[in-house]
Amino acid sequence: MKKFAVLLAAVVLAVFAVSAFAATDVLVGACIYKFDDTFMTGVRNAMRAEMEKQGGELEIVDSQNRQPTQNDQVDAYISKGANALIVNPVDRTAAQPLMEKAKAEGLPIVFVNREPYAEVMNAYGKIWYVGAKAEESGTQSGQIIADYFKTHPEADKNKDKKIQYIMLRGEQGHQDATLRTEYSTKAMKDAGFEIVELGSDTANWDKVQATDKMKGFISAVGIDNIEAVLANNDDMALGAIEALKAEGYNMGDKSKYIPVVGVDATAPALEAMSKGEMLGTVLNDADNQGFAAVRVAVVAAEGKSVTEKSIGYKITDGKYIWIPYRPVTVENYKNYMK
Ligand code: GAL
Ligand code: CA
Repeated sequence: MKKFAVLLAAVVLAVFAVSAFAATDVLVGACIYKFDDTFMTGVRNAMRAEMEKQGGELEIVDSQNRQPTQNDQVDAYISKGANALIVNPVDRTAAQPLMEKAKAEGLPIVFVNREPYAEVMNAYGKIWYVGAKAEESGTQSGQIIADYFKTHPEADKNKDKKIQYIMLRGEQGHQDATLRTEYSTKAMKDAGFEIVELGSDTANWDKVQATDKMKGFISAVGIDNIEAVLANNDDMALGAIEALKAEGYNMGDKSKYIPVVGVDATAPALEAMSKGEMLGTVLNDADNQGFAAVRVAVVAAEGKSVTEKSIGYKITDGKYIWIPYRPVTVENYKNYMK
């Protein structure tokens, strides 16, 4: 009997100890614009990992690239009593109604990866944005190409001292597509190069679409005239590389190589770099974007104030958490392989 009492006391103590340190009991409802997106899958995994640490509950749903579906999902989270929302909008220009739904309930809302307009961000107190400055990634990817041309004079195939390039753009209207395109070309010019755009089109972040578009460019302008490919993300860079490989390019023969850069530093891109098929990329830090989004949501859901100290990330203007990009080249890509 005595033994039993001791055991019971021990169990009670253990339970108490666990609950005293217990993790949060918040429920966070998250919507991702579509699950079938390589980079956002990385963010999703990081969100899950962080919530596992925090001990709260995280539900994540696939908005299937449809804004009305996402709006319904947010309504559903609200009716089931979620304590905070994380939203990766399908259409960043349609974030206002989502903000209003959260505001009507006084619920914290954290937008990720697709930045709502400033007037939406400024219309509510419990709103945050976790993302990265697209300009940075554009600049870094353009610099990778410029550095390559500086160290490889043979890259200027027609010896006209200009870079003849193809641009593969992300989804129309996405800040990352617009700014990466603008800043990558600016970086090549700032590095002292004249540039000539042989072709530019959107492939909607998608590998298969990029292969098709690249094949079209190759037949339109001729592969011998293409000196570089800049893609707004890695999936499209890898799609372009498929089209180049179909022509016998980027497969090891040095006389048949076109430098290709992307953005994201996804596992397949790093793999392509290790095989010498792809020149470089830019780390779009999915882990820290996912971790930060969950921390903000949990802290805000608990009614605590969201500060650099409480979330462990720097906050700009009280509501923006900017996660830095990093250039990834042949020198450092191994550091990013998991
Ligand atoms: C970008 C990323 C793309 C795509 C897009 C989705 O930041 O580079 O690969 O995931 O977000 O919004
Ligand atoms: Ca040239």
